[in-house]
Amino acid sequence: MNYSGNETGHAAVAAVDELNARFYGRFPFPWRPAKFDTLLDADFQTVILNQNLGDWQHRLIPERPRIWVAGCGTNQALIIALTFPKASVVGSDLSQESLALCAATARELGVANLDLRRESINEVSYAQQFDYIICTGVIHHNADPGATLNKLSAALRPAGILELMVYNRYERLPTTAFQQAVRILAGAEGASDFDAEIVRARKIIGDLRLTNFERLNQDSVDEYPECLLADLLIQPVENSYTMESLEQLVTAAGLELLHPSCDLFDNPWAQADWNLSFSDPDLQQAYHALPDLRRWQVTNHLLFARTPQLWFYLQRRDSGRRRKSEQEICAEFLAQKFVRAETAQRSHIRSGEFYHLSAKQVAYPVTAPKGAARAIYDAVDGQRNMQELLTALGQPTTFDHVNRIRLELTTTAHPYLRAVPAAKPEEHGPDAAAQLRRKQTNWEKFKRAQPQAVTLPQQGD
Ligand SMILES: C[S@@+](CC[C@H](N)C(=O)[O-])C[C@H]1O[C@@H](n2cnc3c(N)ncnc32)[C@H](O)[C@@H]1O
Repeated sequence: MNYSGNETGHAAVAAVDELNARFYGRFPFPWRPAKFDTLLDADFQTVILNQNLGDWQHRLIPERPRIWVAGCGTNQALIIALTFPKASVVGSDLSQESLALCAATARELGVANLDLRRESINEVSYAQQFDYIICTGVIHHNADPGATLNKLSAALRPAGILELMVYNRYERLPTTAFQQAVRILAGAEGASDFDAEIVRARKIIGDLRLTNFERLNQDSVDEYPECLLADLLIQPVENSYTMESLEQLVTAAGLELLHPSCDLFDNPWAQADWNLSFSDPDLQQAYHALPDLRRWQVTNHLLFARTPQLWFYLQRRDSGRRRKSEQEICAEFLAQKFVRAETAQRSHIRSGEFYHLSAKQVAYPVTAPKGAARAIYDAVDGQRNMQELLTALGQPTTFDHVNRIRLELTTTAHPYLRAVPAAKPEEHGPDAAAQLRRKQTNWEKFKRAQPQAVTLPQQGD
């Protein structure tokens, strides 16, 4: 940890909260995006989120969840409110400036299911209130990340899901060291003068032609949004983790790691998947014989800076739900029947200072799967399960292959298929597969129809 203040305990937590409020007031994070997307099918992303979690019945995250975006910055809570239009979303942040930007855009877009609050995660008293908490890129900037995580854990309903992202130690070593150098150069009297620090950081990069960053060199430095540059180079407080230290942190907070999250803003320099493929059969066997967390530790140590972000779903240890291994999720995936997941997307597109709702709606997902996943996508019929499809297509049913196609077909980053949930015993009438097939026929009709204006879904729809 690189905070060098003299305070301890609660005083240190409060001092760092104040520092963060000032830092993210000066550099609200992140920058304004070129567009915000919204889907016609208000349930689409909840269904896919449940599939990320290996829940093929789509019940873990309820239809109308209560969501907390803790440390939401300028737009994450708004994106979540648009993504889950049936949810009620609370967004909290220390930075008044970030919240004001978020609120202004939410008003402009007519989003009504969002409640923004200026508060520190360290000070809240939420108890078992949220079905889903998202906290990405936040706790590692706090004085005592374990204490911050305790607050998130307490706020989660026992059956809820936490999505957490913290820095990968191996990726952040150069930035943490750079930040330290800038602070030493500033001396005590220049400490936390963020305007002076960002000027000096730019000069250092240009002057020394530093090459120890994965992402940054003197050619790219001017292309970076200022807030991203500040986040990399002059962040006042930065902790980072290996898989082992992350596991210790979450265990101490009464939580357990479930699975990697399929985040869309992943480190583009990283490998996409937490599982490595070895061509040597002994190596591959030894690697696959490890439990998930041990296997991901190996991945983290071997991939080093190129490890995927430490971005995971977690649950409370007292959830009453046994954690499913990736192997188990894959076995269930093989037994599952699927149909194509299809809806339409409209976008609020930025032109100058403002956003306008596009006249056109496009079919979503906007691209098609590739390679082996494409062949499965084409063959899916709601009748045959995944195992039968793979056999018919001559594709292997090894863990490696099955897990890859699961990720490439059924998750947020690749939302191509939705599971046909098993009909509940008490349900009468047409089976779920037939209903979904009918939905698909309706979709075909919809695709032939002329585009129409879409009203943004509001809370309670
Ligand atoms: C790097 S930004 C990430 C923003 C957002 N989570 C995202 O991923 O786009 C970190 C944000 O967390 C906020 N933050 C840090 N510590 C916090 C705390 N204890 N309580 C509330 N917000 C906090 C900061 O003000 C800042 O807006």
